[in-house]
Amino acid sequence: MKSIIVTGGAGYIGSHTIIELLNNTDYNVISIDNFSNSAANSYDRVKALTSRSFQTLNVDLCNDNDLRLQLSGINNIAGIIHFAAFKSVPESMADPVLYYFNNINSLNNLLKFAKEKSIPNFIFSSSCSVYGNADELPVTEHTKLKKAESPYGHTKQIGEEIIEFFTRANPSVNVVILRYFNPVGAHISGLTGESPINKPNNLVPIITQTAVGKNSLTVFGNDFNTHDGYCVRDYVHVTDIADAHIKALDYLSQHKNKKNVSLFNLGTGKGVSVLEVIKSFEKVAQTKLNYKVGPRREGDVVSVYANNNLAKTELGWEPQFDLDAMMLSAWKWQQHLEQQS
Ligand code: WQD
Repeated sequence: MKSIIVTGGAGYIGSHTIIELLNNTDYNVISIDNFSNSAANSYDRVKALTSRSFQTLNVDLCNDNDLRLQLSGINNIAGIIHFAAFKSVPESMADPVLYYFNNINSLNNLLKFAKEKSIPNFIFSSSCSVYGNADELPVTEHTKLKKAESPYGHTKQIGEEIIEFFTRANPSVNVVILRYFNPVGAHISGLTGESPINKPNNLVPIITQTAVGKNSLTVFGNDFNTHDGYCVRDYVHVTDIADAHIKALDYLSQHKNKKNVSLFNLGTGKGVSVLEVIKSFEKVAQTKLNYKVGPRREGDVVSVYANNNLAKTELGWEPQFDLDAMMLSAWKWQQHLEQQS
């Protein structure tokens, strides 16, 4: 039985991807997480939604010795899916060194491990934030990267460059880089979803928490040069993102990749404003959301959304959830959390 190592497996996208791996593949799954931005009960929710067991390890990926020690006994590893990273734009603005240290050292240690264990496949979580304020929209995988607007986005740009040079020196490791746009929503069951251990910084959980009186939404500016003055993003359902990882694994394991490093945008291709997200939520939740408009947030890109044709043609990936379905799933999850509390 071949194994897949999922780093950040207790996190938002990682846990949703483990659900899809366990339910739709035969891989033995090993999750690595040090719970720096997630909680162990995330695994309990995965177990409730799957019928196969999986191994979990608490490893600090920035500690090379800890990584080797805990993973030394694992063999027949078909691939690594590397989610583990800090991912908040505002937090990275406040503490750049935390982001550079964590996001880059963990990647370096994992690449070294992949080389030593001759692991043939590696999937790297990148982000649309590598584009910065792009000169063209929608962005394609060949759109020239602008200067990152945040240390978070910069760590993803650096990570992609590290991988480029690493694979030139180690062509036996094949890599797929997935540039996520804005992952949102929750598992269709409503039984798991985004569950940050601290106050969320990102829009959709703040919306659903505001709707139940546990947060207060401030919209960061509505005077941007966009179709309605609000920031524009390409929101994509977390399960669609998870599905893309299964397809990327198949793409590599079936040697369909034409280059050592293949790079794909994971977005719906639709640019949606913050106001349109709020309106969609109000529609599906049948409620009026209280919010105020405040100043712009430092580090925010004005508008970014994907040309996703390459993922469609090369990976056979097709996002299934539209904006209303994304908002409804996020709302069902928030209501589930309210019932639990
Ligand atoms: C979205 C929009 C804010 C909070 C995220 C992830 C990052 C990466 C890219 C995957 C912006 C506005 C937000 C609030 C607001 N994804 N907003 N009030 O910054 O686009 O980055 O997607 O790797 O990891 O962080 O997402 O949800 O923070 O912001 O008005 O209280 O919502 O200004 O326009 P962002 P976000």
